Amino acid sequence: MPEARYAVFGHPIAHSLSPRIHAAFARQTGIALQYTAIDAPPEAFADILAAFAAGGGRGGNVTMPLKEQAHALCASLTPRARAAQAVNTLTWRDGQWHGDNTDGAGLVRDLTGRHGLDLRGRRTLLLGAGGAARGVAGALLEAGVLELAVVNRTAARADALVDALGQPGRAYSRYWDDLANQGDFELIVNATSAARGTGAGAFNAPITLVNSRTVAVDINYGEAAIPFLAWARAAGCLRVVDGLGMLVEQAAEAFEAWHGVRPDTQPVYEELHAQHARLVTAD
Ligand code: ATR
Repeated sequence: MPEARYAVFGHPIAHSLSPRIHAAFARQTGIALQYTAIDAPPEAFADILAAFAAGGGRGGNVTMPLKEQAHALCASLTPRARAAQAVNTLTWRDGQWHGDNTDGAGLVRDLTGRHGLDLRGRRTLLLGAGGAARGVAGALLEAGVLELAVVNRTAARADALVDALGQPGRAYSRYWDDLANQGDFELIVNATSAARGTGAGAFNAPITLVNSRTVAVDINYGEAAIPFLAWARAAGCLRVVDGLGMLVEQAAEAFEAWHGVRPDTQPVYEELHAQHARLVTAD
């Protein structure tokens, strides 16, 4: 019987924090496990995942750009993974992969738990309609936001996301070019990948989106979160939050699903947050 193995799959994957997060959870809970980062170009992902299972792979996290592909490779899906059409957590059971999406739960837990925010009643603006946006949209509605306006560069994707949410009136799409006419929001979530990679320019949106209570959240972290959060600060948002806490919380959800133990995320978050702040300011 090969040793149980866990991994995060992505392309590129070298800078993923997931191996460190799962190693820290494992130390904390006394669970012995092997968790590595595996680079998987999209065209090779299916074969790499099959080889991983054959070699003792029992669980995987999936990140850019493989979440939709992981969704297609699963024998069964949780309702939230089916709704997102994207999988970030794979569990090997009965000779098959089973898919979940813990991104939305991770975001809501970070905002309501760590940051002490009450999401209920907030007019909410979601920027983006890709896999990441689909992963968090349903959880934001479930957390009780008043309404969810979805805006995306490609309008048809925002329409498709809103259709899939199935709450007409409460979740609706709007045009990016028409943002100045949408009033103000108490929660603005950036789920676009616009600032990932090098050479990203400044983020721009009308400051009329912001009121005195607005919390701005970027589900990216590190350098990829800088342009949107810089705009949010300049626009006068009350709080700005990056995606590091969400990353740790979605990892904890996966860890609990695999090992049956809920890790304490706060010390792991604090250590990464301290190091990350140093990394960002060092540049
Ligand atoms: P992810 O899994 O991270 O969501 P994705 O499915 O490729 O990745 O989606 C990327 C999201 O970022 C999309 O909403 C995309 O908008 P389009 O649907 O119009 O492509 C958005 N995005 C990427 N680059 C962008 C840019 N330069 N400006 C605005 N939105 C951008």
